[in-house]
Amino acid sequence: MGRKALIAANWKMYKTPAEAADFVKAFLPLVAGHTRDEIALFPSPVLLPTVVAACAGSNVAVGAQNIYFAEEGAYTGETSVGQLKAIGGTHTLIGHSERRQCFAETDEIVNKKLHTALKHGLIPVVCIGEVLEEREAGKTADVLKTQVTGAFVGITPEAAAPIVIAYEPVWAIGTGKTATPEMAVEAHRIIRAEVAKLLGADVAANIRILYGGSVKPENATSLIGEEEIDGALVGGASLKADSFEKIVKY
Ligand code: PGA
Repeated sequence: MGRKALIAANWKMYKTPAEAADFVKAFLPLVAGHTRDEIALFPSPVLLPTVVAACAGSNVAVGAQNIYFAEEGAYTGETSVGQLKAIGGTHTLIGHSERRQCFAETDEIVNKKLHTALKHGLIPVVCIGEVLEEREAGKTADVLKTQVTGAFVGITPEAAAPIVIAYEPVWAIGTGKTATPEMAVEAHRIIRAEVAKLLGADVAANIRILYGGSVKPENATSLIGEEEIDGALVGGASLKADSFEKIVKY
């Protein structure tokens, strides 16, 4: 069936343009010719032009950590999809848990952003995942289903092909605690089943579901090596070129 894995670096609010350029200079030779997986970097908005230019013509794509759903207008501090595309960005994260927790992003906002991203031909990586209290209360499946359903309102099977989902249990992000491969696989199956319910078996079979949350060189193989896990969204361990290279080559 062959879902091609996507290995994505979420740099969050780290790096200056000079540091970002240094990373790309070191990283591209390390992954030159690596075609088994797709590779994407998600830097802060001010780094995007630098990183896009540095990655031009390579096997590394570049995307935003966030976009706004409106086309343009009086939205101080936001970035439009048109602006992202104009500088050569091809991907965007949507609804990362830090956006949900620190910036009050709801499933409704995630859904609007997903529609805008698809309309403009971006590859959206929709992030979902439960917090610790929800897992401990046995609510993980319900939370994931609600987040998938909320994100996909009004999305048709025909439009869904570019969508990537990232399952990121919030308790595993930046904490050094990783979901076991079994836990991740179980969550991915719940998510894939929900996608099947909403958009049909074909879309569900083809949609890529990444795992994120303390992915490191040491645990990348056991996670991404699972048939059900179609890549990784990597925060801390993506900030150094040699560390991210090891994850890309899991
Ligand atoms: P982490 O972050 O790898 O540092 O846990 C993952 C993410 O937030 O996407």
